[in-house]
Amino acid sequence: MKCRMKVNNVYLPYLKDETSIQIFFGGASSGKSVFLSQRVVLDLMEGGRNYLVIRKVGKTIRQSVFNEICKAIKDTGLGQFFYVSMTSMTITAFNGFQVIFCGLDDPQKIKSITPAKGALTDIWIEEATEISYDDFKEIIKRLRGISKVQKRITLSFNPILKDHWIYKEFFLNVWEDNKRFYKDERVLILKTTYKDNRYLTEQDKQALESEKDAYYYDVYTLGKWGILGNVIFKNWRVEDLSWLKIKADNIRNGLDFGYAKDPAALTHTHYDRKRKTIYILDELYATGLTNDILAREVKRIVGNSLVVCDSEEPKSIQELRQYGVNAIGARKGKGSINHGIQWLKQQIIIVDVKCQAHKNELMRYKWREDANGNVLPIPVDRDNHLMDALRYAYESEFRNLRMMEGPFV
Ligand SMILES: Nc1ncnc2c1ncn2[C@@H]1O[C@H](COP(=O)(O)OP(=O)(O)O)[C@@H](O)[C@H]1O
Ligand SMILES: [Mg+2]
Repeated sequence: MKCRMKVNNVYLPYLKDETSIQIFFGGASSGKSVFLSQRVVLDLMEGGRNYLVIRKVGKTIRQSVFNEICKAIKDTGLGQFFYVSMTSMTITAFNGFQVIFCGLDDPQKIKSITPAKGALTDIWIEEATEISYDDFKEIIKRLRGISKVQKRITLSFNPILKDHWIYKEFFLNVWEDNKRFYKDERVLILKTTYKDNRYLTEQDKQALESEKDAYYYDVYTLGKWGILGNVIFKNWRVEDLSWLKIKADNIRNGLDFGYAKDPAALTHTHYDRKRKTIYILDELYATGLTNDILAREVKRIVGNSLVVCDSEEPKSIQELRQYGVNAIGARKGKGSINHGIQWLKQQIIIVDVKCQAHKNELMRYKWREDANGNVLPIPVDRDNHLMDALRYAYESEFRNLRMMEGPFV
């Protein structure tokens, strides 16, 4: 069998590495996901290893790591040796070895996973910063027991926050930002950046090099552990809100459009005006949805309730209406971003545990800084899709308020 595969040089030494905990982290577009997908495919071909690939939210898997592994199979030119099942989210090689995909939000499935042949030997947690320490402890229990090969757990992620448990668990005392590699008998850490990825387009490089925000530059361009200053929202916390689902009677929905690069982002919330509390009950956060599918997904979440949408896309709003969504455009208007933010900062925001995309955005939504580190009254225009949607959802609450022009942080 002839197998073609173009692996970035920086990762070549780790194709066969047997360290039990392997950490591949660093900047954006550094080739982490592609490399780890290639490694899965090579391991499957060789036989002896079964993989469980995990992300926090099951429905994000298909568009990301499942897709990436399918692409890696295709690139080898050996597609006929693999059987891909979308329904069971498994890929089985000709020799019976498997990769099984599962979201952490499906605990029943995770518990019951057993490969068709042999033991589970590998777990790869993609975007591992999304999972909690307790999740991690539970996951590694799945690797108990003996097998012929060394069992491994692999984490891949961008180093979004130095406060993260991953930093405390694996980096504290052994890591400095100028390092690229660390290894002991238990843990391997490799940091890569876009410069290590020779398959990146000029345009992608340019985008990373021209990043203006210091935090985003550190984390996504340089692959340094992030330290967040000037975060906009600190007035939020995470809770299990399943108790509220049926009781919620003051529903507010907001939708930000997106298709290719940006996702379509829907926030589905309940507002308790007396207590100034916004309960975030559900979300949609996906790229590549045409308006008919978007409408179906939105209706599934919000039913007939009103959805306030980004008014930049009147045609999309019209289409959603034709597909039965009760959609209207936000009015926006001058200063509405900052007014909306000021209003939202005066509320208590409680996010349901399963709304991972809301957590990701709330955590990092921040004010821009100029070259001297001075804070500007402008939010960084990144990872703000649900933040925009939230403003649309609550526009009627703050639109008529005469906002005080005050300090913005
Ligand atoms: N070995 C490779 N061969 C071809 N293209 C690659 C390879 N590695 C990375 N790329 C390209 O670079 C992009 C970014 O790589 P990716 O693995 O998604 O980065 P990361 O996971 O570190 O953010 C991919 O979408 C792909 O286009
Ligand atoms: Mg990736």
